[in-house]
Amino acid sequence: MCGIVGYLGRSPARPILLDMLAKLEYRGYDSCGIAVQGNPLRVFKDIRRVKELTELVPRDVPGTIGIGHTRWATHGGVSPQNAHPHLDCSHEIAVVHNGIIDNYQELRAELMLEGHVFISETDTEVIAHLLEKYYQGILQEAMESTIARLRGSWAMVAVAAKERTLVSSRQGAPLVIGVGSDEYLVASDAPAILGYATSVVYLEDGDIAAINDVELSVSRQGQQVLQEPKDISWSDGATEKNGHEHYTLKEILEQPAVLRRTLVRYLEEKNVGEGPRALFQETTDDLTILACGTSYHAGLIAKHVIEGLLRIPVSVINASEYACRPYPPATLAIAITQSGETADVIAAARRIKEHGARVLAVTNIPYSSITTVADRVMYTDAGPEVGVAATKTYTAQLAALFELVRSSPRLRPQAKEILSAGFVELPDMVARVCAISADIEDCARFIAMHERAFIIGRGVNLPTAYEGALKMKELAYIHAEGYSAGELKHGPFALLDGQTPIIAVIAADETRQAMLSSIHEVKARRSPVVALSYEGDEAVEKLSDFVIRLPKATCPFSAVVNAVALQLLAYHAAKIRHCPIDFPRNIAKSVTVE
Ligand code: G6P
Repeated sequence: MCGIVGYLGRSPARPILLDMLAKLEYRGYDSCGIAVQGNPLRVFKDIRRVKELTELVPRDVPGTIGIGHTRWATHGGVSPQNAHPHLDCSHEIAVVHNGIIDNYQELRAELMLEGHVFISETDTEVIAHLLEKYYQGILQEAMESTIARLRGSWAMVAVAAKERTLVSSRQGAPLVIGVGSDEYLVASDAPAILGYATSVVYLEDGDIAAINDVELSVSRQGQQVLQEPKDISWSDGATEKNGHEHYTLKEILEQPAVLRRTLVRYLEEKNVGEGPRALFQETTDDLTILACGTSYHAGLIAKHVIEGLLRIPVSVINASEYACRPYPPATLAIAITQSGETADVIAAARRIKEHGARVLAVTNIPYSSITTVADRVMYTDAGPEVGVAATKTYTAQLAALFELVRSSPRLRPQAKEILSAGFVELPDMVARVCAISADIEDCARFIAMHERAFIIGRGVNLPTAYEGALKMKELAYIHAEGYSAGELKHGPFALLDGQTPIIAVIAADETRQAMLSSIHEVKARRSPVVALSYEGDEAVEKLSDFVIRLPKATCPFSAVVNAVALQLLAYHAAKIRHCPIDFPRNIAKSVTVE
């Protein structure tokens, strides 16, 4: 969703701001803009893409300080007036903001009575006017007075026409400050500062950061806090396509490497004493998993494994539903969110904490908002994921969740051995799936000709079917439905005809025989079958129209192997159907509104 950037240094701000905005495009947005400091401030906005904004901003705009924003409309439609940066009446202060100001209507009424004239429908514009109201020549002081008036969530950066300063503040939305050589960068999302900053400072809720030519100073409730910059662990190349046509393909193909380094880290980390695994191990009675979208499917797989191997009952709840239903309080909640910013997950995690549960977050983003809510954090190590549809972060989540189970003292020794061995084999198995991408493309050619499909599975691979269907919707715009193979006969059979392919996810486990029966039933109703099966399963070969032959993985690792195959199937179908694979229409990478 919305993205924030800021720059203060010795280089012209214009190209750096625009480049940083381009690096945030993956979050999804519908308008964008920049303000370059000078007297007067120069503000440029566009309701198209960053590319068009770049053409709009004259190359010779002077100024070495500036701010920028990509907006995903919430309060007010998509228009140049509503696009950020927002200005005060005198055009002396500009601000960009992520989050929602809950009391903006009261503030707006108060400011209008005082003579402030508003030109947008946004909540953000009140911040510009409050800054103006309190500004006495020092922007940092105006920011302190302004945030004392706000209720809600924000990450924001402001510039003033007559000061060489950038002032930022955070409350409930992330903001990072990159430190380069003789320059500072501000961003809502670390990928924006890669290539410029060598170290990074993560702001915490309530912080105000003031940057001038000499230094960065951070204050919390009026007190200076010492913030040691930390090294950036992600490299700039991590957000490049590295020769691939799409980020999504690059990220799918990165999965063997992600799993390999995750495995090494988990197996090497002997001391789990105070960490997330220790918190998980304390749980013996009930467990709730809160997540949305792809992360929800990871939660369903975790339920299957935790209930099966540890005998702990698990409720998996769509985070957006948590507030709507009378769920019993749990002792532990696992909040799964790759971005760490999904508002529904954060709200649900806060609520379940109020009911007495402790929260273990599984996230890919250090210092993201969920980490401020959680008692412990299990980081996945997928690196930056640019494609909007989650791929490598999903399998990294599965690895993290399997590791929680593997490290549990409740796990029987034999099961632990099987899990450990499966973990070791997994990266190579996934590499073998990536190696047959061209074969999967052949099946995708067939799927791409259809407007609807069912993806069926059982057991641990039922959530895999759900996830495969989500990928098919997001990437290829095919109305695919993930369905329990056994349930298909209880209604959806009415939809089966020659135009509705069935993609059957088969694993070498106790569900195989039942999956074969389901395929027989489907074939009897003339639906074509694409089977994901393991090499050498002749019964499946005979029954199916197309077979994707995968390495034979044990439970629960078949859920990873099959998920990667379904990602590739959806990717190739999307490419054949000319879909905008990395940035599908209408959806955003991190959904920061409830
Ligand atoms: C958005 C994305 C989905 C994603 C979901 C949850 O809706 O479009 O692809 O699965 O958010 O994201 P999270 O960051 O919480 O895992």
